[in-house]
Amino acid sequence: MSDEGLSNLLHEERTFAPSEEFVAQANGTAELFEQAEADREGFWAQKAREYLDWETDFDQVLDWSEAPFARWFLGGRLNACVNAVDRHVEAGHGDRVAIHWVGEPEDDTRDITYAELHEQVQRAANALTDLGVREGDAVMIYLPMIPEAAVAMLACARIGAPHSVVFGGFSSDALRSRIADAGSTVVITADGGYRRGKPSGLKSVVDGALEGGENPVESVLVVRRTEQDVEWTEGRDTWWHEALEAADATHEAQAFDAEHPLFILYTSGTTGKPKGIFHATGGYLLQTAYTSHVVHDIHPESDVYWCTADVGWVTGHSYIVYGPMTLGATQVMYEGTPDTPHQGRFWEIVQDKKVTILYTAPTAIRTFMKWGKEIPEKFDLSSLKLLGSVGEPINPEAWMWYREVIGGGRCPIVDTWWQTETGAIMISPVPGVTETRPGSAQHPIPGINAVVVDDMGQPVERGSGGYLVVTEPWPSMLRGIWGDPERYKETYWSRFEDMYFAGDGAKLDEDGNIWVLGRVDDVMNVSGHRMSTAEIESALVSHPKVAEAAVVGAADETTGQAICAFVILREEAVEQADEEGEGQDLVAELRQHVAKEIGAIAKPRQIMIVAELPKTRSGKIMRRLLKDVAENREVGDVTTLADSSVMDLITQGMKED
Ligand code: PRX
Repeated sequence: MSDEGLSNLLHEERTFAPSEEFVAQANGTAELFEQAEADREGFWAQKAREYLDWETDFDQVLDWSEAPFARWFLGGRLNACVNAVDRHVEAGHGDRVAIHWVGEPEDDTRDITYAELHEQVQRAANALTDLGVREGDAVMIYLPMIPEAAVAMLACARIGAPHSVVFGGFSSDALRSRIADAGSTVVITADGGYRRGKPSGLKSVVDGALEGGENPVESVLVVRRTEQDVEWTEGRDTWWHEALEAADATHEAQAFDAEHPLFILYTSGTTGKPKGIFHATGGYLLQTAYTSHVVHDIHPESDVYWCTADVGWVTGHSYIVYGPMTLGATQVMYEGTPDTPHQGRFWEIVQDKKVTILYTAPTAIRTFMKWGKEIPEKFDLSSLKLLGSVGEPINPEAWMWYREVIGGGRCPIVDTWWQTETGAIMISPVPGVTETRPGSAQHPIPGINAVVVDDMGQPVERGSGGYLVVTEPWPSMLRGIWGDPERYKETYWSRFEDMYFAGDGAKLDEDGNIWVLGRVDDVMNVSGHRMSTAEIESALVSHPKVAEAAVVGAADETTGQAICAFVILREEAVEQADEEGEGQDLVAELRQHVAKEIGAIAKPRQIMIVAELPKTRSGKIMRRLLKDVAENREVGDVTTLADSSVMDLITQGMKED
């Protein structure tokens, strides 16, 4: 963010108190802060018993003796699926709609009650068991936004098999490496899904991942969604509906240890290899349910909640599946994009389903702003009572638009900061208590301790900036990186002593509000999705024509950041391109190559073919300068460059582009 943007942010002084009406019904109250402050562990113990049903109660809240490896709720045993499904049916809420599912093609909708969900998860748990899946075996899930995604995840949880969901935008190659890393023997996928009005293939991507070479996969379960033609490998592939039909309708769930791994979710780090972040059952379930209750203010008996994230990201895990369902909420799940078949699709869904709580990303809000307020104004949005934002910093302008145009000036906005690693919301307004401030996530929620520190790990003064850290362990914290405990320690716990380093820069304003500014490492945030510069660079250099590549995230008005790549070609490729004048084709070829290696979501917005890259005398690429170029800023200080004429060449090339 530019310095000017920063100082504007810090002069944001508008505040918005919740209405009396909102306060009167709010789940989260000021007492929570006092209770958590007085006895943090006691607070979490009480919440764990309030929000979850334990088959065996725990006898110790936290074991931090082997820090940074935490264990929460020791001795406790529970089943996540029973908490998210069975107990609501047993309490007499079987007829309550769990999911109002809205397919992308219009009129393609399904309502699934908790009783129906109960039947599905039991059958799916039996089907997985029939395929040989046992407690502790990782199951790979590669599905579109259909109810079966939630069923598959919950069925895995039910039998103690950690799931590993991969977002549908990742390629065969990305899927293959994740399958290998987790050692999955079963993959759950669909024939395809709808995206922008067209069926796109998913099964074909799984087939590609399993082609040639060794892999541990023995079975592929295929949900029929689009009915497109798919290739079939006899003995390996089974239709999901046939497997569920053949399976027993009842399944007796057993309880697992609170620390039993619930899922693995791969996310990008600063190296080329994605990290398998893994979460444990008890603490994760508690904090997702607690935050769904006090931050999203879900009242399961009356609210219709809608989180627009994909289940392939952590937001979908925590705030579609585990948090809301543990509370027994009714929610909307939408398969498609916001502009299919028209740009008012989201608002039409809010109107039709009478959505009361909407949780989405700043990128989406900025896109809606661009499309114009006339579009949402055509719909009745009066059912909304609370709005949420997640995934990236929300600029005050977008925040105000969200409040006025979507929330009709009456809905509190919760700007929620958290990460795949934190598992659940950490910093956010508590909507019935906090006077919100446009653009700031404000304060750690009750039970969480997070501060902004300087280089030396000392808390900064008000009005200053630094790094965001969490100073005490929290229930839904990651338990590690799958198979790599050293990387876990190194990445998160070595920068500052005894503090979790989130990788984000932040500022503390004069009133003590936290403003999260974005990543300080080589991780980009594109449309609220995490992308690693190193991962894309390694995809680019794996192309035979590329000698060297540098990737930066450049500021982008809509997507927050956009991927910009600078590429040096191998000599033969340069000669060929010169002879044949194929520069543009080559750029297209490289973009396609990145899509193949990682997925369409990682395609660079821009690829600049350059002759040199700016490097320090020790050979380190100076990304800061490339970022300046990509953002069309005047190029910064180049005195440490080995060859300062390089930047002139690059900027010159850009202008000619
Ligand atoms: O940079 C922060 C940004 O998203 C990163 C986490 O990305 P991921 O693990 O993919 O999870 C996204 C959904 C929780 C953070 O390190 N981020 C997330 N929420 C916010 C945010 N930045 C500013 N404000 C937020 N509310």
